[in-house]
Amino acid sequence: MRIGWIGTGLMGEPMVARLVAAGHQVSVHNRTRARAEPSLALGAGWAGSIAAAARDRDVVITMLPFPADVEAAYLGPDGILANASPGTVAVDMSTSSPALARRLADFTGGSVLDAPVSGGPAGARSGALSIFVGGAADAFERVRPVFEVLGSTVVHHGPAGAGQAAKLVNQALVANLTLGICEAYAVAEAAGLDPALVHESVRVGVAGSPLLDFAWSRLSDGDLEPGFKVAHLAKDLALALDEVGDTRRLPGTSLVRELCQAVADTLGGDRGTQALITQTQPTVPSEGQR
Ligand SMILES: NC(=O)c1ccc[n+]([C@@H]2O[C@H](COP(=O)([O-])OP(=O)(O)OC[C@H]3O[C@@H](n4cnc5c(N)ncnc54)[C@H](OP(=O)(O)O)[C@@H]3O)[C@@H](O)[C@H]2O)c1
Repeated sequence: MRIGWIGTGLMGEPMVARLVAAGHQVSVHNRTRARAEPSLALGAGWAGSIAAAARDRDVVITMLPFPADVEAAYLGPDGILANASPGTVAVDMSTSSPALARRLADFTGGSVLDAPVSGGPAGARSGALSIFVGGAADAFERVRPVFEVLGSTVVHHGPAGAGQAAKLVNQALVANLTLGICEAYAVAEAAGLDPALVHESVRVGVAGSPLLDFAWSRLSDGDLEPGFKVAHLAKDLALALDEVGDTRRLPGTSLVRELCQAVADTLGGDRGTQALITQTQPTVPSEGQR
């Protein structure tokens, strides 16, 4: 297929690599061209603008940070919707707002899908993503071969916005798990245990998960570089809280959103979510330290 791709960051770059390797003809656009160089080196073409990436394509895919970036990429005279051909299906794989997904799909009469993902850069590289799709069933069937290159689990959750809503469920899990992992790591350290030995024990019990393995290894290395940026988790949790509104209380999710914001304010939003470990540092010196 002829695919236009917008956003070659931590997730977009390995996803593009898979599509190129599978034989698709991919043109990429990224705000900073230097970050598209790995994709270009693999054989993707360069599109100098969002409009150029959208023109004459079977599928246009966005993998952008925030809903405001998605909205700007789709709408307006230089955006995807004004420049894509009538038969093009546009797919937003960013984690974004269900309401925005519904607006974009309504605007086009159904040729925009929302298809956010879970699995991180490692899952993107190995084609093992879980893809949460919302939107028209016929558009989904047309894009299915592309999804199957990128993910090992592809589920159509319902009409426009349902993919984003399902992804927010995932993010409520990720948020509370990530904080739990950081707190568990803090307990191991405070107890004077060897974190590697503790990991060996807990990873095979009921608390084991790919997220535990990933975050624990980064924490053991003292590595706060992002697989997943703390500013993006804060965004996702604000979207999840908006989605439930006054119908539910989400005390854990609300707390993790505040802690992510605190990390972003102090260390920068580009730190990995494992930087939540910094929130386990005592703010008041303990008795022995006074
Ligand atoms: N990382 C993960 O583990 C993960 C997992 C699942 C879902 N997600 C979601 O996937 C999305 C992307 O995440 P990521 O980790 O890949 O983020 P990222 O590393 O920040 O990449 C985003 C890319 O989009 C580019 N961009 C931003 N605005 C643009 C615009 N107007 N036009 C063209 N390019 C633009 C950025 O360009 P610059 O190079 O100029 O900054 C950057 O290269 C987010 O919604 C995130 O929540 C992430």
